[in-house]
Amino acid sequence: MKSQDIRKQFLDFFKDRGHLIVPSAPIVTKDDPTLMFNNSGMAQFKEFFLGNGTPKSKRIADTQKCLRVSGKHNDLEEVGIDTYHHTMFEMLGNWSFGDYFKKEAIHWAWELLTEVYKIDKDILYVTIFEGNKEDNLPMDQEAYDIWKELISEDRILMGNKKDNFWEMGDQGPCGPCSEIHVDIRSAEEKAQKAGRELVNADHPQVVEIWNNVFMEFNRKADGSLEKLPAQHVDTGMGFERLCMVLQGVQSNYDTDVFTPLINKIENLTGKKYTIKAANDKDEKLNIAIRVIADHVRAVAFAIADGQLPSNNGAGYVIRRILRRAIRYAFTFLDKKEPFIFELVDTLSSQMGEFFPEIKSQKILVQNVIREEETSFLRTLDQGLQLLENVIASTEGKVVSGQKAFELYDTFGFPIDLTALILREKGYSLDEAGFEAAMQEQKSRSRAASEVSTADWTILTEGNTETFVGYDQLVNEVKVTRYRKVDSKKDGTIYQIVLNNTPFYPEGGGQVGDKGKLVSANETIEVIDTKKENNLILHITKKLPENINSTFTAQVNEKLRNDSASNHSATHLLHQALRSVLGTHVEQKGSLVSPNYLRFDFSHFSKVTDEELKQVEDFVNARIQEHLPLIERRSIPFQQAIDEGAMALFGEKYGDNVRAIKFGESMELCGGIHVKNTADIWYFKIVSESAVAAGIRRIEAITNEAVKEYFASQENALSEIKAALKNPQDTLKAVASLQDENAKLKKQLEALLKDKAKNLKGELAAEIQEINGVKFLAKQVDLDAAGAKDLIYELGNLGNNLFILLATVQDDKPMLSCYISKELVAEKGLNAGQVVRELGKHIQGGGGGQPFFATAGGKNVNGINDALAAAVDFIK
Ligand code: SER
Repeated sequence: MKSQDIRKQFLDFFKDRGHLIVPSAPIVTKDDPTLMFNNSGMAQFKEFFLGNGTPKSKRIADTQKCLRVSGKHNDLEEVGIDTYHHTMFEMLGNWSFGDYFKKEAIHWAWELLTEVYKIDKDILYVTIFEGNKEDNLPMDQEAYDIWKELISEDRILMGNKKDNFWEMGDQGPCGPCSEIHVDIRSAEEKAQKAGRELVNADHPQVVEIWNNVFMEFNRKADGSLEKLPAQHVDTGMGFERLCMVLQGVQSNYDTDVFTPLINKIENLTGKKYTIKAANDKDEKLNIAIRVIADHVRAVAFAIADGQLPSNNGAGYVIRRILRRAIRYAFTFLDKKEPFIFELVDTLSSQMGEFFPEIKSQKILVQNVIREEETSFLRTLDQGLQLLENVIASTEGKVVSGQKAFELYDTFGFPIDLTALILREKGYSLDEAGFEAAMQEQKSRSRAASEVSTADWTILTEGNTETFVGYDQLVNEVKVTRYRKVDSKKDGTIYQIVLNNTPFYPEGGGQVGDKGKLVSANETIEVIDTKKENNLILHITKKLPENINSTFTAQVNEKLRNDSASNHSATHLLHQALRSVLGTHVEQKGSLVSPNYLRFDFSHFSKVTDEELKQVEDFVNARIQEHLPLIERRSIPFQQAIDEGAMALFGEKYGDNVRAIKFGESMELCGGIHVKNTADIWYFKIVSESAVAAGIRRIEAITNEAVKEYFASQENALSEIKAALKNPQDTLKAVASLQDENAKLKKQLEALLKDKAKNLKGELAAEIQEINGVKFLAKQVDLDAAGAKDLIYELGNLGNNLFILLATVQDDKPMLSCYISKELVAEKGLNAGQVVRELGKHIQGGGGGQPFFATAGGKNVNGINDALAAAVDFIK
């Protein structure tokens, strides 16, 4: 059975049982500060379990792209080492929102597995929750009794809270679960040990394939449980594992989900994947190949869904996954050139039909991955050099864990690679020291990101909140719920939910509204507005004294209008870029704030000044046309697309969408816009830059900000003119200054050369012989480059030279040391060690090679001590 058919049969089975089939949500989550990536099928439905929204259907099924690489569920380090964990995997799931419960869920799961997929009942085991004293929960007798009718009792196993009580986070909906496990070992292996003993014991051929969660509780902030108002079912089946069972293979990597990728890796690297590794070396190759085949999927899909690799947040997680793949290839497959990007083509032909985003974003994904590979391979190269320096400065044979940590932390140089290289060179690593440094950093960052969220205090039950901010900026409101959140980052804040609100919550790139809640006797500042699990949260620093009052909610109009101006300009900019540069331009991110707008988009080269000018003119022409806003608040998604609206990958759209039109520009958008393009007044691009390979960024301003910009430009020009003594032609005056400057520079260089020549003569005369070493230590009035030239000139004067020159530039001292090669070879002297030692006198450090090294410092007053110490050293 092909994996594509397996997926289809699952969806058809539940469709026949009244389930609505929905598309996978994007892999990167939005509107959920507790989650960076979708880590299970249920993540996109959280708001329904929490009772903050109503699903389109009480029965839903889908396949969800999941990533378990951060937070509560993190499998990253297992991936590739074993054959059944993945970074990205597909989770097949069916859901009941307050509809059917344990009986139907279990019966259907069994029917699908044994009658549709025809899995032999004798290889299946099931687990149920054994109960837990702490939580005061009994064993799940109901599930036990249902299973008893389907499977012999010796195949029903009890599981503890860790395995059989599913919680999506520290707080929130949770409940007992019942897992289905398969045993696909050979008959001989089964005869030796019963499968029941290997369930949940990390055996590669006795694995969980399906988890059926029965959501009945809500975990509160104090750890206690309360009953949810309705009971739900949340199931998740590992698609790749199911394929393994149905295709009769022993590992997920031997299924047709992975074999095309593995074949391509074999072609590109000339290495062979073996189903059963014969020795340690083969197993290492296997692991590396699995790591790459797995990781490219996660990275490619994340990029296609709009998450670029970066230095923080979700982008950093993606970067680390890709780097893990690169270094496995570097170390074990001997690949020192980018090649992972070439797998995207294979992935796209394999999965593009069901997940069209990977097909349509292919070129972009390839470019981004190639660029990341190139730059990380460069980092690895530099890291190797740095590691050489670390080794050179190591006394003994154990390299400091702190040093290895610095390499890891600052340069992203992987620790296992450090350890491997050290081993090859006969050194070892102080692993405990490394671990300690790592732990220290972790606890620092954990402390910095600690958040404690109290339970909601609910004043009004129900799901009544409406957003009225498209039409009003002021509204009478009541508080329906609130909670307190303490964090190191923001201190104490409150999140307040209103029955209806004019406040726009951050979303679609636009920042959240600010404003006030005013009652008869108090005013509370709203410092931000955000959306979380379908609730609009008004962020405040304090709670109203009388929370039950009626308040007038007032949005800060000036900030809101400035944002609207920038948001509408963003749409026009998007249209302009597609018109000027071509329709390959797609939005890859945006920020719309009151002060400016930022727009990231796919395009493969720098946008020229000429093109920028055309883009600017295009937008300003639309502004001058005074195009009215045509807002369609709720039209069917397909209709909007058919009418030419732009939709973005990585966004989740409902059946009905809001469309915003200005002339020919039409986008699906929930944001706030001006009533007429004339309100934007003027559009000015202030910068163009690169974000990643194939992604450019434009920053621009509109409205008041443009007026300020022009005023400040004019001011700057007047000041320049005044400084130039108001010449008639300013440009000419600047050009002549530049010419003069260039001439003076040349003269200065010539003078300095002369000076160095004279200095060389003077210094050569000062060289004295101490203990067979020709020695000179002196402060000179040159810059660092001059000192280096001079030192090499002096070095040519003979053998056995030891020269130390001190210089001062911009109040910073610097030592440069030269040691003739005979002294390096015969006496074991090392300029790197010398400057590190002497550098202490000037409060600095440095390094270099054994025959030449430099150290920069902070303390100019220490130069004499450093020079004196050099004399002592030679003596
Ligand atoms: N939420 C459960 C899991 O991820 C079932 O979907 O295992």
